[in-house]
Amino acid sequence: MTETNPNIDFPTEIIEEGKVKILVPKLKAFIKTPSEYAPSKAPVFYNPVMELNRDLAVLALQAYQRTVNHEISVCEPLASCGIRGIRFATEVKGVQKVLINDINEKASQLARYNVQMNGLSKRVTVKNEDANFFLAHYGAPRKRFDAIDIDPFGSPVPYLDSAIRALRNGGLLALTATDMAPLCGVHPKACIRKYGGKPLRTEYCHELAVRLLAGCLATTAAKHDIGISVVFSHSTNHYIRIYATTKYGAKKADESIKNMGYILHCFNCFHRETTKEHFTIEHSGKCSECGSKMSTAGPLWLGKISDAEFCQLIEKEANKRKFKLGERIGKILTLIKSETETPITYYVVDKLCDALTLPVPAVKKILNALEKEGFPAFLTHFNPKGVKSNVPAMKIKEILREMLSTD
Ligand SMILES: C[S@@+](CC[C@H](N)C(=O)[O-])C[C@H]1O[C@@H](n2cnc3c(N)ncnc32)[C@H](O)[C@@H]1O
Ligand SMILES: [Zn+2]
Repeated sequence: MTETNPNIDFPTEIIEEGKVKILVPKLKAFIKTPSEYAPSKAPVFYNPVMELNRDLAVLALQAYQRTVNHEISVCEPLASCGIRGIRFATEVKGVQKVLINDINEKASQLARYNVQMNGLSKRVTVKNEDANFFLAHYGAPRKRFDAIDIDPFGSPVPYLDSAIRALRNGGLLALTATDMAPLCGVHPKACIRKYGGKPLRTEYCHELAVRLLAGCLATTAAKHDIGISVVFSHSTNHYIRIYATTKYGAKKADESIKNMGYILHCFNCFHRETTKEHFTIEHSGKCSECGSKMSTAGPLWLGKISDAEFCQLIEKEANKRKFKLGERIGKILTLIKSETETPITYYVVDKLCDALTLPVPAVKKILNALEKEGFPAFLTHFNPKGVKSNVPAMKIKEILREMLSTD
């Protein structure tokens, strides 16, 4: 078999995404009933819904390249048909080489074909190995990558150790997690097992998911004497995504571990607080507002989950490009940038109004009412009905009641 004739024995079609053309499985040919999930039915995985994820990955990688200001090497160890890695090589300036890999032989064949079709054979190499085995070859000095993008089925945790070892000091690690049922507390045991932290089924579970993944990354990196900074993250569609830079050194690891802690939540009155102490020793476990027993999430990451400067760089790159999803990307970036310094967790208006048996007002109105009372309040990309503010739960409920009684 030659690279130009991969003997692809299943229906395919050419799609355009970003600046590349890619041969992908023809999804319609693989679904028998409308409820079937086409991407996983095809012999090679391809999900058009992840275009937004890939667009943002291109922007974040370009932002990172601008910060380091030298040519970078990039690795995508779970690449499927190669669309993401090929986009990196084509759309990100300063990318010297990209290594893409997939355990599925048909995926690697398709990726090789796509690399050639896009004229990238000199800069993009395709492998067909297990991701951990593949990454292990790059875990030594001078072999490591500047950036690694882990985009798996479900959880990225099985690949964290080898990705951290294969990442250069100061490198960028991007992680997708699609296992939202464990991360959002539907399957708490699976979350504790995989991420080492307890989730909670709260209205802000998507933020908890990001913090659980970041916490898992921080503790895994710390074992290698490596510290992390989360420069960007988002929760979109059916997945979460984090981007973190690493810094070598035991001190850096100690500093990043200081960001670990717990979130305590009262399901009775919506009160929440954070603690960096072990709650069973330092905290009574009782809600300071209503006396009910608090539930805990964690240990998880209490540090920043996006950096304002990095967001600004991403936004700048977005403004230079014309993506199909440009408008949605613009909105997401504006929100994420505005919430970089806001308090941990958020209130969800519907949930509060439900509990108070009040009609749901417009979120903007609540923001204004909170501001008037001296509580800066912000929207969040995590939830269109979410409000980030340091207002106590009791106070926001009081403001809501007043607001609606004077309407
Ligand atoms: C979600 S898909 C990747 C999608 C791709 N990154 C994109 O942006 O379109 C996950 C891929 O991981 C591959 N995979 C699963 N287990 C693997 C392993 N142990 N080593 C390498 N690849 C693996 C699957 O074959 C699949 O193609
Ligand atoms: Zn309470």
